Amino acid sequence: MMQQNVVLIGFMGSGKTSVGIKLSYRLRMPVEDTDKLIERREGCSVSDIFRERGEECFRQLETELLRELAESGSVKIYSVGGGTPVRRENRELLKKLGMVVYLRLRPETVYERLKGDTSRPLLQCADPLEKIRALMQERKSAYEEAADMILDVDAMTLEQIQDSIIMKMVSER
Ligand code: S3P
Repeated sequence: MMQQNVVLIGFMGSGKTSVGIKLSYRLRMPVEDTDKLIERREGCSVSDIFRERGEECFRQLETELLRELAESGSVKIYSVGGGTPVRRENRELLKKLGMVVYLRLRPETVYERLKGDTSRPLLQCADPLEKIRALMQERKSAYEEAADMILDVDAMTLEQIQDSIIMKMVSER
């Protein structure tokens, strides 16, 4: 049993939620996804929150949740929303939560994975690929600054991603 928290960050479509679930089975550690926690608490989807209350309200809920989680001290795997590392306060809270793993990928990979997806309010626009490129560029330094470990996941399988994270956890013990 590993006693270190893992925090998965990365752009939409990078596989944070799936990797979190797989790692949770493998390491027998509980997993929490912050988007899902917010949805459960608010009783509506992230898209509903963006539409009805605006992005800023969602960002506030996100920061408040992170503050709570960082206080809670339980051993877990966390996956967070793609925009979470943008706020400086959030980056500090992520570090406090555990070992931060950045699942990095190319804009084209995101586009291929998410075309047709309607659950990401930020990508419901005329030119999603351009939007992905712009947002990624804007967030690049925030992701890198938050990360303890960076994995280029475009061509990696879920297995390979898990193995790399576990090796890093073992080496840091
Ligand atoms: C967002 C990513 C989403 C969700 C919200 C905003 C972002 O999470 O938090 O739609 O700003 O990149 P996923 O990365 O899990 O899709």
